[in-house]
Amino acid sequence: MRMSDLIDKKKYDSELSYDEIQYIINGYVEGTIPDYQVSAWLMAVFFNGMSEEEAYYLTKAMIESGDQLDLTAISKSKVDKHSTGGVGDKVSLIIAPIIACFDLAMAKMSGRGLGLTGGTIDKLESIPNINVEQPVDTFIDTVKSVGFALIGQTGNLVPADKKLYALRDVTGTVDSIPLIASSIVSKKIAAGNDIILLDVKFGQGAFMKDAESAKELAASMIGIGGRFNKRFAALITDMNQPLGSMVGNAFEVYESVEILKGRGNPQLRRICVETVAYLLRLSEQYADLDEAMEKINQVIDDGSAYNKFADYVHAFGGSLDVFEDESWVFSASDKHEIKALSSGFIHHVDAETVGRAAMIAGAGREKKEDSIDHHAGIQLIKQHGDEVQEGEVVAYVYTNKAIAPAILNELQRAVHIETNAPAQHSHIYAYME
Ligand code: URA
Repeated sequence: MRMSDLIDKKKYDSELSYDEIQYIINGYVEGTIPDYQVSAWLMAVFFNGMSEEEAYYLTKAMIESGDQLDLTAISKSKVDKHSTGGVGDKVSLIIAPIIACFDLAMAKMSGRGLGLTGGTIDKLESIPNINVEQPVDTFIDTVKSVGFALIGQTGNLVPADKKLYALRDVTGTVDSIPLIASSIVSKKIAAGNDIILLDVKFGQGAFMKDAESAKELAASMIGIGGRFNKRFAALITDMNQPLGSMVGNAFEVYESVEILKGRGNPQLRRICVETVAYLLRLSEQYADLDEAMEKINQVIDDGSAYNKFADYVHAFGGSLDVFEDESWVFSASDKHEIKALSSGFIHHVDAETVGRAAMIAGAGREKKEDSIDHHAGIQLIKQHGDEVQEGEVVAYVYTNKAIAPAILNELQRAVHIETNAPAQHSHIYAYME
């Protein structure tokens, strides 16, 4: 087989066989096929797409490039929720301990953040003394005893994706549906869970800019996942505005604790309750979403879900006590006020601008090697639907470094205010199985 022939074949829109795709993936991982040839093939895929069969072959070859996690020691059904990345997205932190209150387990590996959206592991590391880099046996033991565990990536899962993603990032080939689908599904299958709920976001702060392309991506992932005999389903959700009121690492753990203590942003609570309800229905714990939501609200209100979160943090050496102290959470040296430019109702707050401002304030990384300030970020005081007066504070930016006035002005303009109240807005746009 010759790579130049396979590039030609894809260039003229023919389908590649499993052996051909495996040849490309193995050759790239082993270093016998160079970046420039794989780049040409990726660009041909970008323009010509892939059949579902080919996307499945690519996913399979990527999984086989590394190890697969064996979670069979955990007897309960293992569920995972995967988000395609959102600004202020702390949903995993909130729903994992809720899920652990039911007859399910959540064994989740997460990554660090790059760019506008923060990584779950960075958020967790704002908890003093916690160690989320754990060996697999401790991970499995914690899932068995607590009901869930979130840890950093471990083992050599899908090395092909690491290499391919880095190449896609610099060759303009990230936003291709079969490439995104095979990248995500390969990691989910290799991580060993049985039931996977995908949260596919669309809007300004997301890979998919509109709901229809998010649905197309979701359908592709559900189709590929089904070929591995795993249950995949997807929520299509709106990422035009940040999730909840807090963006930044310690801030997001603080907001998660608030929700689990029955306090905090009611919109965020509703999103989390609905997400878990879909997972409980998908895993056949409840046939009815309303009944599931009633039970979920119960485990939040009686403190069980918070206790699960505290048990998990304790198992990995940390404590949540400091999150009761707001002067510790909001301890950054500078606090900038963002004021409403006019009077009226907030229609939306641009997630992308908020994510960028939080990153510049120190909450995220522009480059892989940048360090993170856990106490930098943004607190949104007012959100979609709220009435505001001109000059009223709508957000605070917390930072330990000098921040250019242009960034603060941009953030001010990201809060869109109109004279009429906006129409009711639903975060979950569609559900697909
Ligand atoms: N997230 C992934 O894991 N892979 C992609 O290709 C895009 C988003």
